[in-house]
Amino acid sequence: MKILSIETSCDETAISLLSISKNKIEVLGDALASQAKLHEQYGGVFPNLARREHQKNSIPLLIKVLKDSKNLTYLKSKIDDKKINKLKTILIREPELLEHITNHILNIKAPKIDLIAVTKGPGLEPALWVGISFAKALSELWDIPMIGVNHMEGHIASVLMNKKQISKSEFNISNKKQFPALSLLVSGGHTELVLVKDWGKYKVIGQTKDDAVGEAFDKAARILGLPYPGGPQISTLAETIRNKENQTSDIKLPRPMMYTKDFDFSFSGLKTAVLYTVRDIPQITEQIKTEIAKEFEDAAVDVLIHKTKKAIEHFKVKTLIVGGGVSANKHLRNNLQAMVNELNINLHIPDKALSTDNAIMIAIAGYLNVYKKKKIINQRNIKAEGHLKF
Ligand code: KG4
Ligand code: ZN
Repeated sequence: MKILSIETSCDETAISLLSISKNKIEVLGDALASQAKLHEQYGGVFPNLARREHQKNSIPLLIKVLKDSKNLTYLKSKIDDKKINKLKTILIREPELLEHITNHILNIKAPKIDLIAVTKGPGLEPALWVGISFAKALSELWDIPMIGVNHMEGHIASVLMNKKQISKSEFNISNKKQFPALSLLVSGGHTELVLVKDWGKYKVIGQTKDDAVGEAFDKAARILGLPYPGGPQISTLAETIRNKENQTSDIKLPRPMMYTKDFDFSFSGLKTAVLYTVRDIPQITEQIKTEIAKEFEDAAVDVLIHKTKKAIEHFKVKTLIVGGGVSANKHLRNNLQAMVNELNINLHIPDKALSTDNAIMIAIAGYLNVYKKKKIINQRNIKAEGHLKF
């Protein structure tokens, strides 16, 4: 089936068109606009700016996807006024989107698409609403059913698109032997361990009590005077001394919640420890900065690895799926690889483009929803759910 997907939960506007069947996933068109640079000055994502940018970006991205997938045909006849009035009602709170649709989409012939999948949460509600309203408008205009998708299920589902398999076995929709799987989701907004018993059967077994790990990387970087997003910056600094012999350091940071009985995390104390360390040292040289970066990365990765390993053993997990921006971290990847080798289980880390926010994963999650229910239930009344849980 052909699925058009829309992702606007945070600071990436992404739209894609996929052809998905049980055995094959094909990307027909994929477009993404990142706002990361715009939010840089705020040191984090600014919701109303994100909303405006999503409104501005959605239409050009959709047109690009339709064009790339050879679905862009213009109508000769006029669209009827009833439809236009309906669109006005749907987009009452998104006037800018209505204007763009009226100017650029109304004269496009309805493409042959079976389903529109849109992220309904979790995420920033003003941002989510843009994608949802856009999906509702297209669903109405083109008579295509739509469904709302959980963004986190998207991250897990992205593993089905993995080209470079790191593991021994193929991960596919109908392979039951891969379950139970565990998903470690590490991004700027999330740190979660999700037990995946089967597609559609998810249970959050652990999560952060405060900051997400990526957020802690970003905040620690800011304390060290490094630009946003700080994760890659800290990592690059840490790498410069990671494999050097005879490197000793007096910098010591805590491993919060590492030995608690649950599978939860806490990263805000680690960030505060960086703040106190910097405050107590009279002069922060480049060398000390590098040592703090390395000790921070070690601490964060130690906790992630320890809890993930504990969960794998406890739930007798066969496959580990890692998603989110922090999965790009080299030290984390090396430690994950060593851990799965020791435990003899499969590891799947999607390519960078698929582990950070994208629309491809939303289309796949949309397909899984239909696959599990064996039918499409049109959900034109969905709402944005900023704190959506599994
Ligand atoms: O998934 P993502 O692109 O966006 C969301 O948060 O939704 O993740 C971004 C986060 C940022 O906090 C960034 O600092 C972190 O991922 N990150 C990294 C690395 N690359 C990105 N953290 C540590 N090491 C990295 N190499
Ligand atoms: Zn995400």
